[in-house]
Amino acid sequence: MAASDPLLGVRDIHTYYGDSYVLHGLSLELAAGQIVVILGRNGMGKTTLIRSIAGLTPPRRGDVVFEGRSFTGRPPYAISQAGVAIVPQGRRIFKSLSVRENLALPTSALAGRRPAPMPGRKRWDMPEVLKEFPQLAERLDHAGGSLSGGEQQMLAIGRALMANPSLILMDEPSEGLSPKLVQHVEDIMRSLRAHGHSILLVEQNLALAMSVADSIYVISSGRFVFHGTPDQLSSNTEILDSHLGVSAARSH
Ligand SMILES: Nc1ncnc2c1ncn2[C@@H]1O[C@H](COP(=O)(O)OP(=O)(O)OP(=O)(O)O)[C@@H](O)[C@H]1O
Ligand SMILES: [Mg+2]
Repeated sequence: MAASDPLLGVRDIHTYYGDSYVLHGLSLELAAGQIVVILGRNGMGKTTLIRSIAGLTPPRRGDVVFEGRSFTGRPPYAISQAGVAIVPQGRRIFKSLSVRENLALPTSALAGRRPAPMPGRKRWDMPEVLKEFPQLAERLDHAGGSLSGGEQQMLAIGRALMANPSLILMDEPSEGLSPKLVQHVEDIMRSLRAHGHSILLVEQNLALAMSVADSIYVISSGRFVFHGTPDQLSSNTEILDSHLGVSAARSH
């Protein structure tokens, strides 16, 4: 991989569920150490983009290139071993397993084949994750299902970190959280970036996106209709109005 190559390149991907054509040729780039945000309303294709990158719903055309290598034809476990972790929409923690068991899952699933740490990137293990999320340390033996929504989100993020990913795909981590907890999630993302991780975040929360993003793409019906900086997006009333439905709200 040449120094100028992005960590992740999505190249004109087209993704379907059966006959249903959902992603109509998406391309994006994410450089190492960046937070790139995909903003879009319900049903626009955000989760499908994450599933396409992770190999869960492979694109029918186009390519995903990570650290200079193509993911085409590679199963989800190989993509996870390559250093890509998902924090899924709705947290998806195992409710009947304890916090400790939830955290230990990626390490047992990867069976010691965790990617080697990149220089300058933090290496995570159980004590380091618990230091980052002290609330989880207090509840290690509690069932995942007994945690609050905010704690479940911390657990989902902590579980992803246990795989020592280079790239973390986060699917609407702010969904259903109070403003205070959304602020906490934002702080965590900044901390992860400071530790050398890269994040692809899909969101509907404009304020969160504006605050953490190095670069923003707006998705509408499976196509990107905008790519630029948070400043460029905040001055683009056409995009805010037509595709995010927020320019009127923001002007007050
Ligand atoms: N398993 C599936 N089978 C068929 N169609 C699907 C499937 N999953 C999603 N879709 C359709 O694909 C489109 C994009 O869905 P997707 O879940 O990617 O949207 P999203 O942007 O993540 O929405 P949300 O913000 O509500 O999570 C929608 O029209 C949805 O109905
Ligand atoms: Mg979704």
